[in-house]
Order: sequence, then structure tokens, then C-alpha cells
Amino acid sequence: MGRYGIFIITYILGAIPFAYLAGRFKNIDVRRHGSGNIGTTNAFRLLGVKWGIAVLIGDALKGALATWLGIMAVGPWGGILGGLLAMAGHSWNPFFGFKPSGKGVASGLGIILVLMPKITIIALILFLIVVIFTRYVSMGSVVAALALLIFVFVFQEPLAYRVFAIIASSVVIIRHRTNFQRVLNGTENRFGVKKK
Ligand code: G3P
Repeated sequence: MGRYGIFIITYILGAIPFAYLAGRFKNIDVRRHGSGNIGTTNAFRLLGVKWGIAVLIGDALKGALATWLGIMAVGPWGGILGGLLAMAGHSWNPFFGFKPSGKGVASGLGIILVLMPKITIIALILFLIVVIFTRYVSMGSVVAALALLIFVFVFQEPLAYRVFAIIASSVVIIRHRTNFQRVLNGTENRFGVKKK
């Protein structure tokens, strides 16, 4: 397979649809309820805290593992390639016909935890502040993605990490298009608030 074969594995790792699999245990198809997204937030929303945490750990771990495998095989550029392939597998999932699936937030969290722990803490704090004040997880995710983009330059991270931040933040923001529309319409889900 050669050392570049590892990138097939990182892509498939990213495509493991933890939210969908957890939903199967509870007989809920996460694609048909809530936001319809195959991701951690929709798992919390539809399946409860326990399953939500399990999906968060699974999604973050697959991003972290893909990044680590890439670094071991090829170094920093391999790390970002492994991470990005995991995000691609998660966000346009081959098991669901490459249709938009996850939004790359929890998997992205795992990736940046391996690459840039200091920036991860800043992004997490900003995420929590936005979610606590607005109850929009989606807007917290977008702010965290923007924070990543800004702080890779502020902290003068290596070029590979800057390239990663530009691509990953764009993916996260683009995948939140429908959330932006719902926020503007006033129909976006609020975390911990039941719809009337
Ligand atoms: O993790 C994705 C989150 O930012 C939004 O998820 O299900 O509300 O579209 P969702």
C-alpha cells in the first residue's frame, strides 16, 4: 500500500457516521429529524446527552486519529492532508452518496486538538460563549472556525497549519449556509430550547 495508502484509511475513518449509527440504536434516523445533519449537534438534539457525548468523542477521535496517522506517515503536511480527508469523508459522506452530511465541527475539533492545542482552547472558549449567549450551536461553530482562521496567523503557525485553517474554516462556514438562513428566518434550533 505504501505510506501514502494511509490517506485512504483517513478518508474512510472520517466517513464513519457515528451520529447515524447511534441513531440506529435508538431507531431514529438522524437524517430525517432535527436539522437532518449527521453530526454531533443533531445527535445531542435527537438522542440525548449520553449519545451526544458518545458521538462527540467518536467524531473528534476520528479527526484526531486521521491527523496523527498522517503526521506519522509523512509529517506536518501529511497531518493536514489526513485531517482534511477525514473532514471530507465526514462532510460529504461516501456511504450516503456524497451528499452533504456532517458539518466538520467535531471532527475539526479533534484535528486542531492534535495540531494546535492552544488555538483549540481559544476556539472552544469562544464557541461556549456564543452558545451560552445565543443558544445557537451553529453560530458558535462558525465563530470557532473564524477564530481558528485568525489565530493561525496571529500565532504565526507553520504554513501547513495555515493552509489547513483556510480550507477547514471555509468548509465549516460553507456547510453552515442553511443554518445562516434559519437564523435570519428565526427558525434555527436553539440548544436546550424546545420549539413551540
Ligand atoms: O456541529 C454542527 C453545528 O454547528 C450545527 O448543527 O445540526 O444545528 O445544523 P445543526
